[in-house]
Amino acid sequence: MSAQILDGKALAAKMKENIRLEAAALRRQPGLAVILVGDNGASQVYVRNKVKDCSDCGIACFDYYLSADTTQEQLLTLIDELNGREDVDGILVQLPLPAHLEERPVLEAISPMKDMDAFHPENMGRILRGDARFKPCTPAGVMELLHEAGIDPAGKHCVVVGRSNIVGKPMALLLLQENGTVTVCHSRTPDLKEQCLRADILVSAVGRENLITADMVKDGAVVIDVAMNRNAAGKLCGDVDYAAVAEKASYITPVPGGVGPMTRAMLMANTLTAAKLRENR
Ligand code: GUN
Repeated sequence: MSAQILDGKALAAKMKENIRLEAAALRRQPGLAVILVGDNGASQVYVRNKVKDCSDCGIACFDYYLSADTTQEQLLTLIDELNGREDVDGILVQLPLPAHLEERPVLEAISPMKDMDAFHPENMGRILRGDARFKPCTPAGVMELLHEAGIDPAGKHCVVVGRSNIVGKPMALLLLQENGTVTVCHSRTPDLKEQCLRADILVSAVGRENLITADMVKDGAVVIDVAMNRNAAGKLCGDVDYAAVAEKASYITPVPGGVGPMTRAMLMANTLTAAKLRENR
């Protein structure tokens, strides 16, 4: 079998165009504040992309570039100000923060109504309970890719590799919400290959090149690669040995062009949702 490609780039472009139309129909232009602290090169690229996505979707972007020696108090003061601003519907603090800053109080300081990553405990609790206000962008983007291809997790064995708060845990919950039977694997799972071989839907979010090889994939499985690694040649790659796994899978996401663009589109979708919630308040 040769897998069909789940084209995140194309679906993201379609979603962004719909978001642009919906945003233009609101009484007030939606606004997203993006905060980058320090000079992490990858984060700078991510933030630049977010600024462009806002422009594409007709969303006002308020981007803040804070120096690497910004104090916790300065960052919390800025978040507090943005929480109170009428023209800001959503707030995103780009992670990772510099080592001297504490992530947890920063994420908890963002108003749950403006929490575009859904990292606030209130929003994480809602996801756990099955009534999400905002969904975390990467897992939500994966679900959109599955829906678009007509892949229903109900009754399927879904294996998620990775248990981060950003991807693995919420990914498992969204699949469970749609009636998948979910297994979460992680660095202490002794039989990763055996677990993966049981997957009808396999999602890998670890960050290690060639972690998922063809002998770990069941014939006809759907394979979703969330990771974004650089190989020895400096080329972008995921966790999955793409060429070999594509021969066994029924569907597969490429890296780049799979989950990445969907994550970006879901940030725009969350910002639109936040603006609508405030308009209807
Ligand atoms: N850094 C890497 N991924 C993410 C994400 O989804 N949200 C934020 N805020 N920072 C990130």
